[in-house]
Order: sequence, then C-alpha cells, then structure tokens
Amino acid sequence: MIFVTGGAGFIGSNFVLDWLAQCGEPVVTIDSLTYAGNLENLASLSGDARHLFVKGDIADTALIASLLATHQPRAVLNFAAESHVDRSIHGPEDFIQTNIVGTFRLLEAVRSYWGGLPADAKAAFRFLHVSTDEVYGSLAKDEPAFLETHRYEPNSPYSASKAASDHLVRAYHHTYGLPVLTTNCSNNYGPYHFPEKLIPLMIVNALAGKPLPVYGDGLQIRDWLYVKDHCSAIRRVLEAGTPGEVYNIGGWNEKPNLDIVHTVCALLDEMRPRPDGNPYAAQISYVKDRPGHDRRYAIDASKIERELGWKPAETFETGIRKTVAWYLAHPDWVAHVQSGAYKVWTARQYEHIPHDPATQPARATA
Ligand code: NAD
Ligand code: TYD
Repeated sequence: MIFVTGGAGFIGSNFVLDWLAQCGEPVVTIDSLTYAGNLENLASLSGDARHLFVKGDIADTALIASLLATHQPRAVLNFAAESHVDRSIHGPEDFIQTNIVGTFRLLEAVRSYWGGLPADAKAAFRFLHVSTDEVYGSLAKDEPAFLETHRYEPNSPYSASKAASDHLVRAYHHTYGLPVLTTNCSNNYGPYHFPEKLIPLMIVNALAGKPLPVYGDGLQIRDWLYVKDHCSAIRRVLEAGTPGEVYNIGGWNEKPNLDIVHTVCALLDEMRPRPDGNPYAAQISYVKDRPGHDRRYAIDASKIERELGWKPAETFETGIRKTVAWYLAHPDWVAHVQSGAYKVWTARQYEHIPHDPATQPARATA
C-alpha cells in the first residue's frame, strides 16, 4: 500500500481517485483538512475498503510514525502543502510551518521507518515529493524553459518554502540514502480545483456574473497541465524513476493569463451562454498586480519523456474543455466550496472519529 499526504486537496484527490481506479493498490490518505482540504473530493470512495482516510498533520511525527508502523507502506507521496501564492504574500507563516517544518518532520518519521525495514523492502521503498516549477523563479521572454538543473531562484514565500522542502528532500537522499524522487510540475488545472486559483475562479465568477480579476496587464505566462496528466506522470516516476533524481513535469503549454481567461469565457459562451446574450469576456476587469509577480514559467519536460517515456494525454484545448464541462456539471461542489458548506460536511464526517487517530485510524470515512 501507499501513503498520500494532502490527498483531500486538488491534485492529491485527483491522484488518489485515479490511482484506485487504475491500479487498485490500497491508499492511506493523510490530510489535516485546511481550508483547501475537501473530503467531498473523495466522496466517491465512501465504503471502499482499499481507501483509509486519516485526518492528521504531516508535522505530527508521532502520528505519522504510528501510521507507518501500522500500515507498512511501500511508498509515501507528499502532496501536502500550503499552495496559494497570494495567501503566502498575506501570511507566510503557515507556508513555513507546513511546507518546510512539515516536510522535515515527515522526512524524519519516514527515515526512521525506512531504516528499520528488511533489506528488500528498504531497497524498494520510495519517498516521492511533489513540488512546483515556481522554485526556479521567473523566466525572461526568450529564455529557454526550466531544466531540472536550472538554478533555484524562488520569489514568493510560497515558492521559497517549496524550494526549502525540495532541498531537505535532496539532503535526505545524499546524507541518509533515503530513496527519494522529486517532481517539479507546472500549473495544473482540472476537476476539484479550489476557486481561489486562476482557472476555477474565472469559471465560478463568470457564472455568478462577477468581475473576472486579471492582475496587471494579464500577459504573465504560465505553462498549463491537465491535472490527470500530472497524476499519470507521478505514477510513472514512482514506478520507474531513479532514486535521488528530479523530474520536471509539464505539458508544453505556455499561455498568457489573458488568453486563458478568454478561452474560459469563449467555452462558457458556447456551453452556458449568458442570459442577456453578452459575452462573458465583458466581465473581465483589470486589477492591481500581485507584488513580486513572476512574469513567466515554462517547463522543459524532455527528461521525463526521454528517460521514462511519459507524455501528457491532453492538449490544452481538450483539457480546458473537460474542465469547464466538469464545473458546469458539479454546481453542488462549487456551491459548497463557495459557501463553506464543505466544512460543515467535513465536521459531520468526523463526528465519530476517535481523538487519537494514531491508535485507531478513521476507517474509510471518505
Ligand atoms: P491544495 O492546496 O489544493 O491541497 C493541499 C492539501 O494539503 C489540502 O488538502 C490541505 O488540507 C493539505 N494540507 C495542508 N497542510 C497540511 C499539513 N500540515 N498536513 C497534512 N495535510 C495538509 O494544493 P494542490 O494544488 O493540490 O497542490 C498539491 C501539491 O502539488 C503541493 O505540494 C503543491 O506545491 C504542488 N503543486 C501544485 C501545482 C498547482 O498548479 N496546483 C503545481 C505544481 C505543484
Ligand atoms: P494562480 O492560479 O494563483 O497560480 P500561480 O500564481 O501559482 O501561478 O495564478 C495563475 C496566474 O494567474 C498568475 O500569473 C496570477 C494570475 N491571476 C490573475 O490574474 N487573477 C486572479 O484572480 C488569480 C487568482 C490569478
């Protein structure tokens, strides 16, 4: 079995759902359920004996150690993080705590568990750390895309905290021999994306008749990957990646933010036209830029293609169409996230959870 931390968030929940659908190996999901953790994402696994959800913090070494001893996973995949750049600008503390201290404590617990495994299990064990292209900093217009060897130049508290976590993971390999894998991926989009991030925010604001806030001139470039392609890349790296190696993951889809917003508007015009017949693009509103806003990210994903044979299945055009369709088909999920009702739902789910999940993990509550 495997452990997935942060599995109630956007990418983690997509990963858990795809993992169980595709290979069926049992999963223990560990998530502290911050504002970004939403058990509704995993609701389809309710009653599935292959899935166990535990509410817990990656910084809680005793809990993690107990879960490792009980379940004996062959791999730990670390998705847990504070992930929103704007929040990191307003309040960096949580980012330092989870992304740096949390990753450190998780590594310590895993190192201790791994050190006690029999030789064959020890050799087969993997710690996979899910990271971001933002650690590499910002590219000028004509610079080549980020390679794995690109210098680390993080510019926001979020990217700096992720960079620190990447360094810790690297150090645990070099110092202790822990078999780690690190993936640095570009911007994801797709189902279950919390509507504080660009693409889901534009969809839900457009449908609600609200302004579509574009920061600065809207010409900042991001490199977009459909979330299920990120999940397939992680599965491939876990399966065939070389311990100690870093793999960049991306879809060769560099686009200025304004293009993204116009594409979302055009798809909504087609799939759910505004009642007054006006285009959704009329709702675009230019707002003050984000402080220290990185101008351009771009991933060179040739290493993972060359060495592991991975390529994305979706183009941006197919992925964004699926994404808009998903949001239109899931108004309840959107309404619960926007109203905060998913937190009430979570509280209800937890009525019967024992106080010490280390000794009695919550059984398949999601
Ligand atoms: P998210 O914010 O949607 O989810 C993060 C999850 O981690 C939430 O469920 C949250 O409750 C949980 N969590 C937070 N602190 C925790 C803690 N201390 N202990 C246990 N759980 C905790 O984030 P996401 O977009 O799904 O990103 C997942 C990972 O992928 C992150 O590490 C992020 O840096 C990385 N990443 C994200 C993107 C992207 O475009 N979203 C791109 C590349 C890499
Ligand atoms: P975001 O989804 O926050 O991801 P990241 O900052 O990690 O790349 O933002 C993507 C891009 O969209 C980024 O350049 C900031 C911009 N943006 C807006 O223009 N308006 C918005 O309301 C948001 C949330 C983001």
